[in-house]
Amino acid sequence: MATGYRLDMRIAVVGQIARDLVLVVPDVPGSGGHADVLERREVLGGKGSNIARGTRQLGATAAVVGVVGDDREGRLLVERLDADGVATAAVVCRQGVRTALIVDVVCDGGYRYLEDIPEATLVTVEDVRAASATLAGADAVVVQLEQPADAALAAVRAASGLVVLDGAPEGRAAELLAAADVVRADHGEAEALTGRSITGADAAVRAGRELLARGPSVVALEVPGEANVLTWDEGSAVVPLTDEEVVDPTGGGDAFVAALTVALVRGDTPEEAGRLATAAAGRAGRHPGGRTDLTGLTLGARQLG
Ligand SMILES: Nc1ncnc2c1ncn2[C@@H]1O[C@H](COP(=O)(O)OP(=O)(O)OP(=O)(O)O)[C@@H](O)[C@H]1O
Ligand SMILES: [Mg+2]
Repeated sequence: MATGYRLDMRIAVVGQIARDLVLVVPDVPGSGGHADVLERREVLGGKGSNIARGTRQLGATAAVVGVVGDDREGRLLVERLDADGVATAAVVCRQGVRTALIVDVVCDGGYRYLEDIPEATLVTVEDVRAASATLAGADAVVVQLEQPADAALAAVRAASGLVVLDGAPEGRAAELLAAADVVRADHGEAEALTGRSITGADAAVRAGRELLARGPSVVALEVPGEANVLTWDEGSAVVPLTDEEVVDPTGGGDAFVAALTVALVRGDTPEEAGRLATAAAGRAGRHPGGRTDLTGLTLGARQLG
């Protein structure tokens, strides 16, 4: 294994914790129809949990800042996070609230999500304040931007390490970008952030350069069906998708962010980090649902986890 890399890193992730019910069906019935379920998985999900677990599997000490309800499902999700080695001291158990549920109906390599995400399961500014020690002590803080913009901003301001944003914020974009070191977005999110549609690698580089001018020093953008494009101050790199057959893309973004963050913290170049991240996202597509195992993911001769 290469030496000189940081493997004792601490990573905190602010984001969703949810129960995932994954159903694989041969076709999606219309009203009055029915379909046999070919495969069913009930797993710990939510982007915050998935990213945190991914970083743990890649060798980091991981913590998640997120919210569950005070129901049986919430307790089971926290137990699952503990079993996965993700610190749960900063998980909030909200009284009188039901834990978020996402039903992922997978058919022909695509998904349909049915989401029950109660407002009260979103992370608040107060939740972030209560987690300030976790955030301040982390080498990297990953903020999944499907949380309210005020809470996201409080999280990046509480961070002292690398600040990684995933997605596009609901508001306060200028302040969030100004405080970010790394921004990662899928094509829809990239369009929301820049107003440009990501039609190819050149468009992704242009959008990446625009985002760099707004604060971050590394940007990773998805070109749909083709590549992920990394841009940074001195250069850019186009990393083609892996050629694995994608059964369900769910969790691809989460695996990507986890690997990108670990690689950048340990000192990889943005291009190397983008390659590892793309390999991670490819792995996530191999199975239905977002619970991906990144253990032992390698990049050339370098192994993580
Ligand atoms: N075959 C593949 N090889 C490598 N990466 C892939 C492949 N297919 C998809 N990806 C990558 O997976 C990522 C999917 O990101 P995206 O943010 O859409 O997923 P997600 O956050 O897990 O789910 P959601 O759609 O709910 O946001 C993209 O970066 C995309 O380039
Ligand atoms: Mg995503």
